[in-house]
Amino acid sequence: MAASHSLCSHLSCNSYISNNTYFNHGRFVSPSSFKPHGPSKNKSHSRRISSIRATASNSKTSNQQVEIVYDLEEKFNKLADEVDRNAGMSRLTLFSPCKINVFLRITGKRADGYHDLASLFHVISLGDEIKFSLSPSKSKDRLSTNVPGIPLDERNLIIKALNLFRKKTGIENYFWIHLDKKVPTGAGLGGGSSNAATALWAANQFSGFVATEKELQEWSSEIGSDIPFFFSRGAAYCTGRGEVVEDVASPGHFEVPMVLVKPPEACSTAEVYKRLRLDQTSHIDPSVLLDKVLRDGISQDVCVNDLETPAFDVLPSLKRLKQRIAAAGRGQYDAVFMSGSGSTIVGVGSPDPPQFLFDDEEYNGVFLSEANFITRSENQWYTRPVSAYSDAPAESDE
Ligand code: C5P
Repeated sequence: MAASHSLCSHLSCNSYISNNTYFNHGRFVSPSSFKPHGPSKNKSHSRRISSIRATASNSKTSNQQVEIVYDLEEKFNKLADEVDRNAGMSRLTLFSPCKINVFLRITGKRADGYHDLASLFHVISLGDEIKFSLSPSKSKDRLSTNVPGIPLDERNLIIKALNLFRKKTGIENYFWIHLDKKVPTGAGLGGGSSNAATALWAANQFSGFVATEKELQEWSSEIGSDIPFFFSRGAAYCTGRGEVVEDVASPGHFEVPMVLVKPPEACSTAEVYKRLRLDQTSHIDPSVLLDKVLRDGISQDVCVNDLETPAFDVLPSLKRLKQRIAAAGRGQYDAVFMSGSGSTIVGVGSPDPPQFLFDDEEYNGVFLSEANFITRSENQWYTRPVSAYSDAPAESDE
């Protein structure tokens, strides 16, 4: 019997979920109809006619007036944009992409209890969408989300980031925020860290960019080690707890697709670090890994992750999943490895998941997504790549 695949249970599952479907940038696609290598039929430019209004004919001139109203949402957005232009900026929607660790070496334990790492982080095209609106409140942000089980109070990194921005700048803007979550949590993809970085960017944009990107990056390390990375251009060699960020140019040979496979079980970062045995990590110099991957591209030997062994201890089924993907995808993927502290397994080189994930009931409920490496330009936040705009239902030919 074919397995059904879905966003993990903590993500909203809607009517698109059915047997033999999987999630592809926010849209569930049946494997038989999924043609990742063919040119995607992007019809986002073809506008849907929502209504046609005809006024009564003028009997004298026999003129008829016909107004064609294209997509209503587009019309409303235009009107709202006009209001914003007149009244100053009041709302903003930003893409909040996640990351993978191409390699992750743990180089030692620190006096503060944390571990030093050395890792090539790279932003990828899977991401959430966050809507910010300026609130009339002078004391409270209000956060909502499409996903149950996410704290919406001060424990949420978005609220922490907004509090941090107000503390650092003295600018008392409060917001209504809606988080449309697509990145699974407990996945080693830095989804929460990206949300925090995106919130800092938004608060700064609302304030007229009072802070520099460097300041946002420095401040953000106060609330999480993985947040400063997102203020790089998308590719960075990170050391310390992860907060020492050295931008690297994303090489051309990173233009390869990948597939993300995450079982429903999450990995607790604290638990994974607790099981880490420093005497059992790899000994390869991370700067050698960096040079090699930037020069030659991604291959199995450079995709070292010292947190795999302790994560497999925490979640033994993850080891088998990785082995099966590597075995099934031989020749299909350039490398198969775990991201961060898990539990996402990444296959770089192809956007296609191995067939056994569809055939084997054991993998019911596994989260699957294709992705690409992405970067951003200076003074611009990340944007969802055009190829990833497949959330909207396919439009029929008209
Ligand atoms: O970064 P996060 O707060 O998710 O980390 C959870 C726990 O993982 C930390 O409290 C710490 O015990 C461990 N950790 C670590 N070294 C790091 C990052 C996390 O030991 N660089």
